[in-house]
Amino acid sequence: MILFAGSANLDFVVRASHIPAPGETVLGQSFATYPGGKGANQAAACAKAGRAPTQMLLALGCDDFAKPIEASLQDAGVQLLSQRIADTPTGTAFICVSDDAQNAITVAPGANARLQPTHLPSLEGVTHLVMQLEIPLATVRAFAQRARDQGVQVVLNAAPAQPLDQALLGTIDLLIVNEGELSAVSPTAGSIAQRMRTLNLSAVITTLGDKGCCALSEAGFWVEPAVSVQAVDTTGAGDTFCGVLVAALASKSTLPAATAKASAAAALACMLPGAQSSIPSAQSLDDFMAAHKTQSDVAREQLLAYCGLQPSDLQVL
Ligand code: RIB
Repeated sequence: MILFAGSANLDFVVRASHIPAPGETVLGQSFATYPGGKGANQAAACAKAGRAPTQMLLALGCDDFAKPIEASLQDAGVQLLSQRIADTPTGTAFICVSDDAQNAITVAPGANARLQPTHLPSLEGVTHLVMQLEIPLATVRAFAQRARDQGVQVVLNAAPAQPLDQALLGTIDLLIVNEGELSAVSPTAGSIAQRMRTLNLSAVITTLGDKGCCALSEAGFWVEPAVSVQAVDTTGAGDTFCGVLVAALASKSTLPAATAKASAAAALACMLPGAQSSIPSAQSLDDFMAAHKTQSDVAREQLLAYCGLQPSDLQVL
């Protein structure tokens, strides 16, 4: 069983030609709400696209915003461990998606900020605990330590970006960051590869948007170029990557195989609007992977150079 402990939001999404600059007003084209939140998106991706037994510990308000969130997670096959917080609204996110599929997100954490160290359920039968940084850091720290003490693999997607201390990093088995988050957790000068190495963790993955991702484990580095798609909305693509990656690792895939599957799922998630609404089914992910079996050597070489790696740095498969 994979346990996600993290945020759940209702996303309020406006599509517009471009993301407004400070002080600018933009007339948008459309408005919609979608179930979101990094923790919930990742749990839904793990269960739906990754076909893995998945639980989620989440905190919701006692309001109508909680209903579509719970329904979406249940539809995806996630077993819910909901904490209802009486005097606080469900988390919300305010998202502008531009015509070129980029987004800007502001989160009002609401009930997510009330997930406490005491809320952690029994970890019996749990192989992996997956967290993000949209719940209190003290809670992340306490959950990670309890999981580590009980031999559960701890996965942290350090999003949104913030610096992390060595005590917390020392409890993490796999850290997943994007480029901005890598700069926050590893603020030294140097290439992406050097900053990943400096962290000195057993496994680190840096996602690099439409370039792909770079993984480092005890076996060495691995790079996986992204599958090129016509993106309409990148919201939740990184979360889909995390959820599918952990599902693959839990079913004993190697890190290179898991990154290939997670990258394909993230590419598919860019092709539909919304966060959880864009997560592919396991069947459509299998079909997409069969149709996009190999990545070009040129793309891999460009990605190696971007990360500051040589072909000889890569692990031998
Ligand atoms: O990663 C995307 C998510 O970030 C959105 O669903 C939003 O709710 C915020 O948590």
